Order: sequence, then structure tokens, then C-alpha cells
Amino acid sequence: MSVIESVLNETRTFPPNGTFVKQANVSGMAAYQAMCTEAEKDYKNFWAKQANHYLLWHSPFSQVLDESDPPFYKWFNDGEINISYNCLDRHLSTQPDKTAIIFESDEGEITKATYRELHQSVCQFANALKAQNIKKGDRVVIYMPMRIEAVVAMQACARIGAIHSVVFGGFSAKSLHERITDAGAVTIITADEQVRGGKHHPLKATVDEAMSMGGANSVKSIVVYQRSGSNIPFNPDRDVWWHEITQLANIDCEPEWVNAEHPLFTLYTSGSTGKPKGVQHSSAGYLLGTMVSMQWVFDYKSSDIFWCTADVGWITGHSYVAYGPLAMGATQVIFEGVPTYPNASRFWEIIQKHKVTTFYTAPTAIRSLIKLGPDLPEKHDLSSLRLLGSVGEPINPEAWMWFYEKVGQSRCPIVDTWWQTETGSHMIAPLPGAFTLKPGSCSLPLPGIQAAIVDETGQDVEQGNGGFLVIKNPFPSQIRTLWKDPERFKKVYFPEEIDQGKYYLAGDSAYRDDDGYFWIMGRIDDVLNVSGHRLGTMEIESALVANPLVAEAAVVGKPHEIKGESVIAFVVLKGQLPQAEEASKIILELREWVAQEIGPIAKPEEIRFGENLPKTRSGKIMRRLLRTLAKDEEITQDISTLENPAILEQLKKSIK
Ligand code: WT7
Repeated sequence: MSVIESVLNETRTFPPNGTFVKQANVSGMAAYQAMCTEAEKDYKNFWAKQANHYLLWHSPFSQVLDESDPPFYKWFNDGEINISYNCLDRHLSTQPDKTAIIFESDEGEITKATYRELHQSVCQFANALKAQNIKKGDRVVIYMPMRIEAVVAMQACARIGAIHSVVFGGFSAKSLHERITDAGAVTIITADEQVRGGKHHPLKATVDEAMSMGGANSVKSIVVYQRSGSNIPFNPDRDVWWHEITQLANIDCEPEWVNAEHPLFTLYTSGSTGKPKGVQHSSAGYLLGTMVSMQWVFDYKSSDIFWCTADVGWITGHSYVAYGPLAMGATQVIFEGVPTYPNASRFWEIIQKHKVTTFYTAPTAIRSLIKLGPDLPEKHDLSSLRLLGSVGEPINPEAWMWFYEKVGQSRCPIVDTWWQTETGSHMIAPLPGAFTLKPGSCSLPLPGIQAAIVDETGQDVEQGNGGFLVIKNPFPSQIRTLWKDPERFKKVYFPEEIDQGKYYLAGDSAYRDDDGYFWIMGRIDDVLNVSGHRLGTMEIESALVANPLVAEAAVVGKPHEIKGESVIAFVVLKGQLPQAEEASKIILELREWVAQEIGPIAKPEEIRFGENLPKTRSGKIMRRLLRTLAKDEEITQDISTLENPAILEQLKKSIK
């Protein structure tokens, strides 16, 4: 295989500061290495030890890992557990009055729930679900606004052993319908409306629309939480109000003890082709992954005010809102709205007001906040912050530097966490009291995780060369299967070609530098082939973003007679969209810039400007749409999961 070439050379390094190291849960490189060595020596025992340390078992497991039917691995299989018990009941004797959730609504109203109160709400709602005849193993679709109740709904399902499948509230009726029918859901939990950025969006009406598309015969009831009080369609034969069914419900609910491998949830992730994949997670192994990463990567302390900005509709909102922080007994912030309403200071105000210590967000949010107000963080008291985190995409070194200097005031380490819906929890990420940070690198694997870079047959590539990112050993929080589609699961994640299906294939390209640090180069499907050089998207994009004029960039390949592919860049400038004459000047400048930063090979053949880029609802750039635009072809792909369809028109017109 022609290896994927790395072309960007980022040399800035940030060793951990002494104060942070002193108080860190994993303090110093030697402590990290000792854990890695322990895991390498006796891998199963290492994870068994963690499972006994972090999880409360109803009955203990005797077998750590069952590998009899790969890649369908089972962890701690004969142990019995309940995830809601592990997140709530465990704190009732130790810290019942500690605030579990500080909730801030779109309008700015603040509600708090202690562990005792949250436990009570979850028990009541769990009893209400039971009264609706929902049983262990039943599927429940949750289509809710980002509020305490969304977490209550998830935890209540976990309590009774029902399998939840959260659908992000921004998804259309069509996407919702696809997920309801695939899951065979018996109940949908929703709200009348959601309110974000001052705007009301229908949820219940969208559920009704999805139901009217037919085929959702498994659905017996729809539970409606009253968020806005607006008038909504209500069918008394099928619909029930959240507040009515919980009103008289008992405040105690004995947890349903389930097998460690019992599915806690499925979560749909849209692949580049075909129907969405229902990623199925386990109970015990999944929760363990969230807890060790809270401890190691987020350096969790009981005095922390933890804030992960992700919606519960994504895996990040599962692992680092609904489960991980609660299992650790943390106080966390949940925010209903958007970073730009009522103004671009909203995030900084929330950090200041609630004295947030740990702030975890996405590069797409960081880049948009840079564009909207690069100096706004300085106008707020962000001195409570001690740790920053990034997830979802590679963070461009320039965005990293801004986050580090302007938000973290050069005091807070940044944990750039690489993981996926399928891995359930962090895989490659800095341990902030041990690692030297490098902007743009997610650094090194967590103890017990054997990440590596291989070629298309599964052979290790030479250090410095790019290739496929794989994880060589099974790990507790990994995907168990795709819902009702074990064959697709095997084909996508454990393909035969890669060392006979032994490794988990992440679908990303990456390389390791001289220190063994991992640098993610982009999705395998997005790799460009320019004159025989295989280039990841990430590095060219980062070079563009490093130009002071550029806020955001996406590059794709366009078929080229001689070169194979040529580089086409879609660019969002920090200022206004440029007029024709100015545009040509900037294009010249940016092409030269890339040639300087990376080399002539990566020089974009064409550059187009837009006010934004086509993104998924979770903020990922949809490069496959850009590839179609680059070829000046009509878009025929499904764009129902696109956040901002209007942008496609703008990017069509190329200014040359
Ligand atoms: C894909 C997974 C992980 C939860 C949110 C996204 C990209 C994620 C990073 C990072 C570079 C990253 C990868 C990965 N990605 N984090 N820190 N650096 N790339 O979950 O939607 O399942 O996406 O997001 O391409 O495969 P997801």
C-alpha cells in the first residue's frame, strides 16, 4: 500500500506545569507508564482490577473476558449489575445532598438537583415506565430537549433494564422514523417542544409525523414532557403526559439487576453510505470506560464543576453527561441552549457564573467562537477553569492555541480526546498531569488500550508513516454489535483483510511521531491522492486555518487527468464574504501560504468561499457533499441530517 503521507510539521510543545502534576490523579509519566506496563503484563487482570475498583456489583463476575466467538467479545459476563444504581444509589449514603446537576435553560433560568433528588426523579419515572408495561430488554426511543429530564429518562431506562436509543432533537421526522422502526421501540419519550437560541422547535409534532410514515407498529405509547406549554397534538389513546404518570409514582424503585453484557443502549451513527448503524453498547464494560476516563483524562476531583457541552443525542452526551460524571459523583452543568444566544459570550458567562473547572467542547464550537468574538473570553472571569477538553474532530493547532491562551489563560492543560461512538469512551488522550501536550495531537493511548497504525493488510507501518488506526485488543467499553446486523458489524469494524479480522478498525487515518504521539489525519474515506501522494484532509485544513484570515476550512479531492486528484478547498474567512477582486487576491495568498506551510503538492487548485460549511448536526464537515460540489455535480445524496442545507447553494458558485 502507498502509505498516507504526513506533511504538516507542528513543533510546539507544552510540558505539564508543576502545580497540576502535583495534584493529578495520574502524576507524571512514570505513573502512566507503570499502568501501561501492568496492563501489558496481564491485560485481563488489569481490567478486572478496574472493574472491581470502579463498579458496584450485585453479584461478582468470575470470567473477565470471553473471547470464544470473536469479534463478539464479552466482558465480566456472569456478573450482575445495574447502571442506574452505579450512578445514583451509590451516592445516597455518602453525599445525598451534593448537587448532581446545575441546569441552565435557554432563557437563563437555573435549576439544581441533588443526588437524592435525581435518584427520586429517576425512581418515579422508572416506576411510571413500568406502569406503562415497559420491561427489561424493551427499546425506548428518547427524543428530548437537553434538560435534566433527558438524563432522568435515560437513567430510568437503565434502572429497569430497558434499552434506550436517544435520537438528537435536531433530527427530522424521516431520520426519527428510521431509528424508531429499526429499534422496534415500544415507547417514545419526547417533549412538546424544544427551545434553543430563543426559538421554539416542535418535538411532539415531529414524532407524530414520524409515526404517520407507517411501519412503527411496535410503538404502544408516547410520553410527553411539557417544556414550553404550547398547544400540541395529543392523542389520548396513545399519548400520556410525563407529569401525570409520575405524579403518583412511588419514589423508590428496586433496580433491575442485569447481566454485565445486557445492552444499556443503542445509538445510531450515520455512516457515509447506507442506513444508520445502531451501535450497541453493553452495561458494565461501557460504564467502566466512562469512569476510568473521568479519572485519568479529566483528572476528576470531587470539588470539580464539570461541564461537557455535548447534547445527550450524541455519544459524548451519553458518556460524559448522562453516565460518567454521575457514576463518579460529580457536580455537572447541563445547558439547554446554544453558544451564541443571547450573544457570543454565553459559554463564558456560564463558566464564570457556575465556576466551571472542567470544560469539554468540540473544535467546531471553538472555531465558531473564535470567529464571533476572539477577545470575549478575556472579558470574563474564567479563573475557575483548571482543565479544557476537545472532542469530535481533529483540533487545528491554531484553534488549540487560542483555546489554550484565551480560554485557559495558558494555565489549563487541554485534553484532545480521540474516540468514537463505537468505542464508548476515550481511547487516545493526554493524561494531563503526565503528558507534554502538542497542539493538534491526541497524544498517547490510555492504559490498557493497544492503539496502532497499520497498512491495508494489518502490518504495522513504520513510525512516521500514515496508515489505518486500529485497536489491537478488545477493551471493555467497545461496541458489541450493530443492532440486528452482526454481519455488517463484522464487515465494517473487523474486516478480514486487516490481519484476519483480529483488529478493531476505527476508519481514521493517522500517524505517530518520534515520541509515539498519534496525529489523526482524517477519515480513511476522505484521503486524497495527489500525483501518487496520499494526503489526509486534516493537515491541509490546519495549514489553511493557521492563516490569520481563515476561520474554517475543508479540503476534498477532485478527479484530475494528470494528478489523479487535485486539492479543492472550501474556506470560511473570519471577516465578510469577499467580493470578486478581493477574493482573487486572497486565493493567491492562500495558495502561496499552503505551498509555504506544507509544500507545493498540497497547494489547492481551487478555493471557494462560503459563510459556513456543510455540517452534520453534530458539527462534522460533510466532505462527501463537498466532493460533489467540487465536481460541479448536482447533489443527490440524502441531506436530511445536514445542519445548514442553505449553505450548499453558496458553495456551488465558484469564484475563480
Ligand atoms: C470520529 C468519531 C468521540 C465522540 C464524538 C464523535 C473524529 C473524534 C477526535 C479527536 C481527531 C477525532 C474521528 C472519529 N474524532 N475525536 N480528538 N481528534 N478526530 O463521535 O461521531 O462517532 O465520530 O470523530 O474521525 O473516528 P463520532
